[in-house]
Amino acid sequence: MNTIRLHDKSFKHYITANQIHKAIDALAEQMNNDLKNENLPLFLSVLNGAFMFTADLIRKMEFDLELSFIKLASYSGTQSTGEVNEIIGLNTSVEGRTVVIVEDIVDTGVTIEKLVETLNEHHPKQVKICTLLLKPDQYKKSLYLDYVGLKIPNAFIVGYGLDYNSLGRQLPEIYVIDS
Ligand code: IMP
Repeated sequence: MNTIRLHDKSFKHYITANQIHKAIDALAEQMNNDLKNENLPLFLSVLNGAFMFTADLIRKMEFDLELSFIKLASYSGTQSTGEVNEIIGLNTSVEGRTVVIVEDIVDTGVTIEKLVETLNEHHPKQVKICTLLLKPDQYKKSLYLDYVGLKIPNAFIVGYGLDYNSLGRQLPEIYVIDS
């Protein structure tokens, strides 16, 4: 299956399952080295997109960890406070712990920056960032990304957890928009 159609757009085959799993193996090796001596790291998987990546990644972790799934909700307040960001589902204590954020993709970095800022209010020991994909030409933030699986050009992709208007998440491989 080389081209697929989701809603009104076509997508062509882009990253194979084999490439994805090689990238995850490399991430896992780095993370096992870095994190094996940490005291019960807390992995925070950012829904919805990171569910598939998280399931494959944590199976390769060779140390005890705790896993939680979170969502970042942004909404405009009713008063003139502007945008409010809240982490939904953070019901595990973060204070004094090593926290590993597991993301599907970092694009501009707005989402990850807000997430780290909000987490830091809970006084973790340290926050590490793990993302399967990064669009380096789009990334404008200074925040260091500890673990990056694959760097891709600036184009819209779907599959392996990522969606286009709710479609495409179940695809085992990654597709890029056919422009
Ligand atoms: P950022 O805040 O610009 O870094 O965007 C991060 C979020 O945007 C990701 O967690 C995804 O949900 C979404 N996103 C960014 N690029 C893509 C893409 O190419 N396909 C699908 N979703 C994307």
